[in-house]
Amino acid sequence: MPNKSLAEAEYNQFRLFLEQHSGIVLGDNKQYLVRSRLAPLMGKYNLPSLSEVVKQSMKPTERQLRAEVIDAMTTNETLWFRDNYPFELLGTRLLPEYTRLGRPLKIWSAACSSGQEPYSLAMTILEYQQRRPGALPGSASILATDLSPSMLERCKRGEYDSLALGRGLSPERKRQFFEPTTGNSMQIKTNVKQLVNFRAHNLLESYTLLGRFDIIFCRNVLIYFSPEAKAKILRQFAAALNPKGILFLGASESISGLTDEFDMVRCNPGIYYQKRT
Ligand SMILES: C[S@@+](CC[C@H](N)C(=O)[O-])C[C@H]1O[C@@H](n2cnc3c(N)ncnc32)[C@H](O)[C@@H]1O
Repeated sequence: MPNKSLAEAEYNQFRLFLEQHSGIVLGDNKQYLVRSRLAPLMGKYNLPSLSEVVKQSMKPTERQLRAEVIDAMTTNETLWFRDNYPFELLGTRLLPEYTRLGRPLKIWSAACSSGQEPYSLAMTILEYQQRRPGALPGSASILATDLSPSMLERCKRGEYDSLALGRGLSPERKRQFFEPTTGNSMQIKTNVKQLVNFRAHNLLESYTLLGRFDIIFCRNVLIYFSPEAKAKILRQFAAALNPKGILFLGASESISGLTDEFDMVRCNPGIYYQKRT
């Protein structure tokens, strides 16, 4: 019988390790979460106990196991057009404003999970261009990043099963932007895919090589981080945004008490943050 127990001291050491490498803060008594997410790696790496998985993953030499452990500890819950209003606002108000700038629009989907967020952004841009032929003359591009190699692989494949497709996607958008592939799955079409570039990136690391953006979507990830990590990330977002650039956070996330580099803009429903000039 494989040993799935984890001593208190080991758990605390692992929490610290996870926070340092991913920003994710595990609460007290979340051993059950570690157990359920890491137990499959015991068999895969032929390790006799959960404690050994945790111990080995903290060794810098065990790069592959370390990456898989961090990957397994991330929460990847996502859906198409999540909360709707950020995409609605983009299509009806922000894209017409950026069209007037006459230069390429750059959007960053930071922590993109399995791709629903950046592909929803791409669909919003394509729908806008259908309504307004010739709009966004300088075009638009989306950079989508995540820490998780397995999520990025799924993003690049762009193939979704009926369960994933059923979450937030209208039949009209499914018809327009997807084509059938094997079984119950559908493949995102090339014209949507080519607006998005995927890249591995850890939000705790430097952003300087990513370039500058007009809009950043960083939704439903900061909730897992400490206030110090959130503050550092928000500072880096401000530096990565063009003047008056816009930041969308998740519906339950806020910058309150963390930064004074943004103004809050109410858009009813919802809010976004605009970089102060
Ligand atoms: C709950 S999903 C949110 C996906 C999408 N933004 C949304 O709102 O639907 C959180 C994502 O954050 C990623 N993540 C966690 N820690 C990260 C870090 N330090 N750097 C980059 N991505 C991270 C996870 O891999 C996961 O895909």
